[in-house]
Amino acid sequence: MKISRFSFLILASSIVFLFSSCSSDEEVRLDSFDGRNNIVFILRDGVPFYQVLRDNRIVIDTSGLGFDLKDAPPLRGNFKMEQATMSGKREHWHPVWGQRSRIQDHHGDLLITLKEQSKPYRKLQIEFKAFDDGVAFRYIVPEQPEIKKLEITREATEFRFREDMSAWWIPGDYDKHEFLYHHTPLSKIDSANTPMTMESADSLCVSIHEASLVNYPEIRLRRSGDDPLKLFCDLVPWPDGVKAKVDIPFKTPWRTVQLASEAGKLIESTMILNLNEPTTLEDVSWIRPMKYIGIWWGMHIGKYTWKTGPKHGATTANAKRYIDFAAANGIPGVLVEGWNKGWENWVDGVEFDFLHAYDDYNLPELTAYAKEKGVYLIVHNETGANAEWYEKQADTAFGLYQKLGIHAIKTGYVGQIWPLGQYHHGQWMVNHQSRIIEMAAKHQLMVDAHETVKPTGLERTWPNFMSREVARGNEYEAWSEGNPPDHTCILPFTRVLGGPFDFTPGIIGIYFKEYKPDNRIHTTLAKQLALVVVIYSPFQMAADLIENYEGNPAFQFIRDVPVDWDDTKVLNGKIGDYVTIARKKKDAWYIGSITDENAREFNFKLDFLDEKINYEATIYRDGQSADWQTNPLEYNIEKKLVKKDDELQMKLAAGGGQAIVIRPVD
Ligand code: NOJ
Ligand code: CA
Repeated sequence: MKISRFSFLILASSIVFLFSSCSSDEEVRLDSFDGRNNIVFILRDGVPFYQVLRDNRIVIDTSGLGFDLKDAPPLRGNFKMEQATMSGKREHWHPVWGQRSRIQDHHGDLLITLKEQSKPYRKLQIEFKAFDDGVAFRYIVPEQPEIKKLEITREATEFRFREDMSAWWIPGDYDKHEFLYHHTPLSKIDSANTPMTMESADSLCVSIHEASLVNYPEIRLRRSGDDPLKLFCDLVPWPDGVKAKVDIPFKTPWRTVQLASEAGKLIESTMILNLNEPTTLEDVSWIRPMKYIGIWWGMHIGKYTWKTGPKHGATTANAKRYIDFAAANGIPGVLVEGWNKGWENWVDGVEFDFLHAYDDYNLPELTAYAKEKGVYLIVHNETGANAEWYEKQADTAFGLYQKLGIHAIKTGYVGQIWPLGQYHHGQWMVNHQSRIIEMAAKHQLMVDAHETVKPTGLERTWPNFMSREVARGNEYEAWSEGNPPDHTCILPFTRVLGGPFDFTPGIIGIYFKEYKPDNRIHTTLAKQLALVVVIYSPFQMAADLIENYEGNPAFQFIRDVPVDWDDTKVLNGKIGDYVTIARKKKDAWYIGSITDENAREFNFKLDFLDEKINYEATIYRDGQSADWQTNPLEYNIEKKLVKKDDELQMKLAAGGGQAIVIRPVD
């Protein structure tokens, strides 16, 4: 068997290879700029495969590619390679907001063009990219006379791993992402959603996900019978079982493999964003990352109700109290849930009214009041998952909000999707999400979406898509067995790799016995502060009741902390155990460190500080005998002068954390 192998140094201009001979095997290898990550395209007897290597070691062994189709032969064999085009890119760009203000995009690109060797002579392209922080590929079905539309019944992409790595994953559900994580060997996974993160015995970290998910269903990873280390790409279906219905030309989302020699580097990776399209929005002046408080936690713990009545949370008077508190404390946003009609008969398919408020809530008066105080009102749109009904009202409702001067909405999709038979993670809902985001942009509205599609970096294209939930947030502490202390030590290495998470941290009223004696927050108070830094979101909620913040010195940290950053560095991290993240805004640094159920001590060099500057650190730390189970409320605030060559010692309680502000002193 003759094998032709090609591997090029990546140049700024592209190199095109035309293939006329027909060797039975062909391989083309693409390297990242640092040479450590490689992705290999293989055509074996007309069938396409790929491989992924890190430091010359195979991470993903020869794995299948292609599609099965409805009413058409499969598109995954009988190919000849027509062309391979290799190019490279060294650029940087500036996001509208994010974890850093400048993002480097250095990567190699390989575009393979395949053509069937007999009728119907269809063409398929596969594009590969290799970055220093991982590799990715996507399918392109180019315009061609033979095909106008495709109904994809299976994407044949496989991930055949070499090692039985340790994996953190949530089940691959069609409708839900709000699970606690499983931590098992890879071989024990039946079906998982992404980002799914793994670590080898020698600390190679690998995370599988997707980027730029538009007009296609979410991928889930499923084990395929024979090989315990082989997962295949299982797409969420339409009601008729078809997975994706697309017009040609067409591109799939990117299938991504983030690679890092230590877990913290996964968090610093920018590959997912680099794989998304730049925004085409010209005016982004109305987009504003912000902290917010809200009439929200009160409903979850039973202090208030969403529906109108004696305990109604969303009254004009209560909303004014929240607006006043926000204005007095420099918190830019106030969310109000339960303001609109429809909550009293919430069943599947309920038709919420997004235009009309309950009688005890005066929307125009409150938006004017908020505006006068310099506060953004965030309007809540719970759809009850009746997405069809929401789309019918969205243009009118968003138009009303715009007219009132509102710039932010929070959406939610609790329940079973309408149109019936569609799933939260299927192509119809992915497209619904696109329609809503685009419509929101047209009306200058920022969006924070709950129970929606997984994050895949779309905020680069739609910088009004501020945040989403799509994981198990702090709300579970109010009405379930709660989130164990290690949950938040897994999230930064899994879910948050996809994009911002509206986790709703900052609940410092750890107990709420008056309302729910059997529930509590499963952290120390200091850890709730640290989470504001650790779990990135440009809409960051200070989620507690405002009466719990009033008079509590710990609230000063929440007042001070920014939500949009110039730079982000991970100081340490072990998936599921602990993580410490330092973020920079102008000359100041903010650090959040969290641990699982074990107490820990860390020492850090402050070598990221500027040597010409003297700083003061304000440290919010767990008290001497703090412990999330027995003594969660004890904390101390301490100030000290620090410089670049100093070492910082940290002591975190069991289930604890630490939050630090490091600011220049004049
Ligand atoms: C679930 C969301 O996660 C939560 O934030 C919201 O308050 C409720 N749904 C009600 O819409
Ligand atoms: Ca939720």
